[in-house]
Amino acid sequence: MINGKKVALIFGIGGQDGSYLAEFLLSKGYVVRGVVRRASFPNTKRIDHLDIYDDKYGKTPASPFYLLYGDLADSTSIRNILEEILPDEVYNLGAQSHVGISFQNPESTMNFNALGPLRILEAIKDLKLKCKYYQASSSEMFGISPPPQNEDTTMLPISPYGIAKLAGYHLTRMYRKAYGIFACNGILFNHESPRRGLNFVTKKITRSIADILVGNREKIVLGNLDAKRDWGFSKEYVQAMWHILQHDKPDDFVVATKETHTVREFLEEAFNIFGLNWKDFVEISDNYKRPAEVPALLGDASKALKTLNWEPKTKFKDLVRLMLAADLKEKMQEKGIAPMGEDKSDEYYLDLGKELAQKLAGQKKEKKVEGLLESLEGLKKEFSAGVIEGIVNQLKNG
Ligand SMILES: NC(=O)c1ccc[n+]([C@@H]2O[C@H](COP(=O)([O-])OP(=O)(O)OC[C@H]3O[C@@H](n4cnc5c(N)ncnc54)[C@H](OP(=O)(O)O)[C@@H]3O)[C@@H](O)[C@H]2O)c1
Repeated sequence: MINGKKVALIFGIGGQDGSYLAEFLLSKGYVVRGVVRRASFPNTKRIDHLDIYDDKYGKTPASPFYLLYGDLADSTSIRNILEEILPDEVYNLGAQSHVGISFQNPESTMNFNALGPLRILEAIKDLKLKCKYYQASSSEMFGISPPPQNEDTTMLPISPYGIAKLAGYHLTRMYRKAYGIFACNGILFNHESPRRGLNFVTKKITRSIADILVGNREKIVLGNLDAKRDWGFSKEYVQAMWHILQHDKPDDFVVATKETHTVREFLEEAFNIFGLNWKDFVEISDNYKRPAEVPALLGDASKALKTLNWEPKTKFKDLVRLMLAADLKEKMQEKGIAPMGEDKSDEYYLDLGKELAQKLAGQKKEKKVEGLLESLEGLKKEFSAGVIEGIVNQLKNG
């Protein structure tokens, strides 16, 4: 505690969830410290707006928020930070969080995602800290277990990511049982937001649509469209993390929306908003297909609702809209299509997007007719000019 305020330490604070969690805890009156790893280029874009505290307080105990350098692969840094900060609550959100990339980088994924939590828990035990510990576990741990999945479902992961997360999950339970640490798992199903990493499929789709509408690109290249996922909103899911640590005893909880959709449905939902057909814009490439893919995730979060009184409000359709609106805003501002610095509603950007989509559809139709006319002109030379002339006239007259 600092001046009667709880101290939270967040590993992975620069990520999607870390940034929302930091904002949420600050709004609850916490003192927040975050761990970032050294990078050659800034990896703190999502939390730069919290730098306001730096000018005023620097890295002093009085500051509500500051960052420290550390790495989940570096036990020394983890121990030093824990000893210095003496947190009341530790949130381990740090991870190599991309399932597909875990097939390409299996060793570092295991190192960060499995040994990372081990290093933190060992340090908490050795230093005899009285803090609570939250482990960011994942629905990928269920792997090929059929849906719906809850806390009692057998875990059969099929990616290095899922296997590493399962090790972190069991370590968390083991340190709870063996050493009495208040250690909890949040088993979170997929959750997205405008801050989602650019190479995750939802963000890739919404960002590419924004790019297509403002004229930056023509196509999206994707892999498997059949994977079914339970997609929630990150900003709400970080609140569940906090609720998990406020429960009177340490436990594990599934956090999900209880709705599942394929990637194809995400595409349909997103393109339909603008009256466009996704098939006109999507190409499939085997490059984006994974060696093994979890077929279907659908979370049953009844325990969280019953025990923590936590329930997601933002469902699939709302999520698609809010992500699209955020990407449209950014791209339209970059292109000077929407005004900078003005606070407009999501509907404003979506409506502007619809106008752009109409123009795009018009251009596409013109191009198609032009193409057809060209081929007919060619055919005219070979076949009866009268018949072709008739078709040409029909096309010209709409
Ligand atoms: N989002 C989901 O759908 C979902 C679902 C279930 C579980 N999870 C888990 O929840 C956590 C948060 O997810 P997210 O969506 O916020 O992921 P994210 O945006 O990828 O954030 C992960 C964070 O971990 C940091 N990190 C990576 N390796 C590190 C290392 N060796 N040392 C210290 N920090 C490291 C990253 O830093 P850099 O910026 O430097 O890379 C980043 O700040 C992750 O553990 C993820 O696996 C996510």
